[in-house]
Amino acid sequence: MPRPTSVYRCQQCGFASPKAGTCPDCKRATGELVPLVEERAAPAPSGRRRAVTAGTRPLALEDVVMERGDRTLTGIGELDRVLGGGLVRGSLVLIGGDPGIGKSTLVLQAARALARVAAPVLYVTAEESAAQVKMRADRLGVRGDGLLLWAESDLGAVQAELDTLKPHVLIVDSIQTVFLPELESAPGSVAQVRECGARLMTLAKGRGIATFLVGHVTKEGALAGPRVLEHLVDTVLYFEGEHHHAYRVLRAVKNRFGSTNEIGVFEMAAGGLVEVPNPSGFFLSERPADAPGSVVVSALEGTRPMLLELQALVTRASFGTPRRTVLGADYNRVCLLLAVLEKRGGLPIGGQDVFVNVAGGGRVAEPGADLGVVIAAASSYLERPVPPDVLLLGEVGLTGEVRAVNGVEMRLRAAAQLGFKSAIVPRSNAEGTLPMPVRGVTTVSDALGALLG
Ligand code: TYD
Ligand code: MG
Repeated sequence: MPRPTSVYRCQQCGFASPKAGTCPDCKRATGELVPLVEERAAPAPSGRRRAVTAGTRPLALEDVVMERGDRTLTGIGELDRVLGGGLVRGSLVLIGGDPGIGKSTLVLQAARALARVAAPVLYVTAEESAAQVKMRADRLGVRGDGLLLWAESDLGAVQAELDTLKPHVLIVDSIQTVFLPELESAPGSVAQVRECGARLMTLAKGRGIATFLVGHVTKEGALAGPRVLEHLVDTVLYFEGEHHHAYRVLRAVKNRFGSTNEIGVFEMAAGGLVEVPNPSGFFLSERPADAPGSVVVSALEGTRPMLLELQALVTRASFGTPRRTVLGADYNRVCLLLAVLEKRGGLPIGGQDVFVNVAGGGRVAEPGADLGVVIAAASSYLERPVPPDVLLLGEVGLTGEVRAVNGVEMRLRAAAQLGFKSAIVPRSNAEGTLPMPVRGVTTVSDALGALLG
């Protein structure tokens, strides 16, 4: 039987089938009927790819040579931190994020910084024209030294010029808009994204060109295109933030050359992205004094404590079913905490509308902020403010117990620097010398009594 020359592929998950139809995997996962798109079978791997592995053999661990020195500092401290201490030679870095969040701005600023230390930097723009990028560059005050701009979406053409241009750093904006002409599928299709990614990987590794890929994110929050792209690249960074707020976070979700705990914090200003080396102060700058429903928590992002203002508004439900609206925190977690407050803290908030928000467009994603959510809701319900210079820390369990959190000393030190005078912490965290006076609590009721009693 002749081998099939076409496969039918799901554009969402990458599922492949020899027959047309809809994707069974997506149907099972989401109930959605996603049509499979025909694509020509990818060309067989080139001889070069095989040659890369042909000469390898197993090595004793102690004989493996570390290539530590091959890092270049981009000069943007927050980016260097997330990369794990600078950009590694020959590495492939994917930067994902919503449209309009600032990815092109970020890579252009990185290009400027890198052009000073690792010229030439080649910026391939396949989405915007060279004039559009130039406009952005003018706005950012980026001048041309060492930076080559090329409006081209044919990756084959780019590859052909690499020998002449010899860039140290390559930027491809975006991976969804470049294409390889030998493939029949459209730019942005799974086949194109996968093959372009693989081609860029070969180029990056083979020639030692550090490469940034810009990638779009689907409305579900995943990087558009197949997961294989995430598996292929060395580093995946997500650029996140609320469009209406200036604050942006660069988060490593995968990094072969560093920790995925690190985040970089930026503010989108008129002249581009500005680093925020001390994010704690940033979120508290507009905090209202003595307002019920406002508390401050310290969330640990990797090794950095971030002080965030949590706000809650509890009001009588205007319609039959009470509403819960949560911005900047996990919806289910907040619902769970509100149930604990009702049952273990004895506050009848079940029939109330509850709104919870992290001020300034911030986000909390760790249980250390639980006690803050509970106390903010109680404070709003009781119309009693929490003292403004008290920090709240603690994970809350279903029986209303307040459980220990990690990094207490670090979190309290950050709060002390911003003028906080004391903290409510889990009893088991209240020992040893700490940067400020603390009160240890074991239950939600304890904490309510201490703050709002
Ligand atoms: P952009 O980098 O084009 O986003 P992406 O590549 O992720 O789609 O930036 C998008 C927004 O950033 C744009 O709406 C305007 C804003 N912006 C500023 O506020 N200040 C600036 O200096 C620049 C360049 C952009
Ligand atoms: Mg862009």
